[in-house]
Amino acid sequence: MKKRILSGMRPTGKLHLGHLVGALKNWVDLQTKYDCFFMVADWHALMSEYENPYQLEKNAYDNVADWLSCGIDPDESVIFIQSEVKEHLDLFMVFSCLTPLGWLERCPTYKEQLREVTGRDLHSYGFLGYPVLQAADILIYKAEKVPVGEDQLPHLELTREIARRFNSLYKKEIFPEPEAILTKTPRLVGLDGRKMSKSYNNTIDLSDGEEEVKKKVSSMITDPKRIKLADKGHPEVCTVYSYYETFLPERKEEVRSWCANAKLGCTDCKKELARAILGILKPIHEKRAELLKDKLKLRKILDQGRDKAAELAGQTRREIKDLIKI
Ligand code: TRP
Repeated sequence: MKKRILSGMRPTGKLHLGHLVGALKNWVDLQTKYDCFFMVADWHALMSEYENPYQLEKNAYDNVADWLSCGIDPDESVIFIQSEVKEHLDLFMVFSCLTPLGWLERCPTYKEQLREVTGRDLHSYGFLGYPVLQAADILIYKAEKVPVGEDQLPHLELTREIARRFNSLYKKEIFPEPEAILTKTPRLVGLDGRKMSKSYNNTIDLSDGEEEVKKKVSSMITDPKRIKLADKGHPEVCTVYSYYETFLPERKEEVRSWCANAKLGCTDCKKELARAILGILKPIHEKRAELLKDKLKLRKILDQGRDKAAELAGQTRREIKDLIKI
């Protein structure tokens, strides 16, 4: 029997290259080795976007189209929307009752978001409970592995604590203690050298066309000390070069020495990178266009995913009912 995996993404906007190298590639590779559940975390998105939730549904379909275009296979993996499987909220309720407030108030991601996120009021009852819902997502399927980025580790720690607390309170080993599978690829930086993120407006989106990609790559920050073509460059501080490491590894040694010896200008270097990115995006765009043309097919995939997820979630729900009588 394959071990079970669950992971999710919040449908807060379009997916970008950071999602592709940071999560999706990893998900695709895991599909054959594990029993995979991939979820659109729309309730989690609502926790921060409740003032303006109107795009979440559209984003959800758009994101799933990207997942499929990047190689997530609906015959191999269960693909579904969190809010369509009601048992997540049942378990969220149970866990809410047994999770001490202090665990949530001390959670580093919570404190950081309250400090750093601007333009949204996150001082809500729901947002404090964000990791409790995430624990319910994972444990309703008794998933043992959770592919996530490092930023999610505190939430997994809480998931294990909640699982232990439940098992010990009701004296039965219902839930496993899930572990993270961390991505090996280093985080992709954005056009400006900061982390690639929609909120920094520095992304290359998976849906970006040729002109957009060319324009965005040409705006990328390079070595600030290199002003003229004759100046020697420092690839180790150059955003463009870091993309070569991820997307053109076979060219990176040559480009490194050409740049460091002032034999290659930034414009040409960027042109080659843009071509490579477009080459990666082309098959993704083709599948995406096909999927978005046939919305019914996308909906069918999500129906099938919802039904498979609900079957397993229902089983766990019944076990819990047997234990706590509610
Ligand atoms: N919190 C995750 C993120 O922002 C999304 C998420 C929701 C998730 N539920 C999950 C990830 C369950 C893994 C497992 O990236």
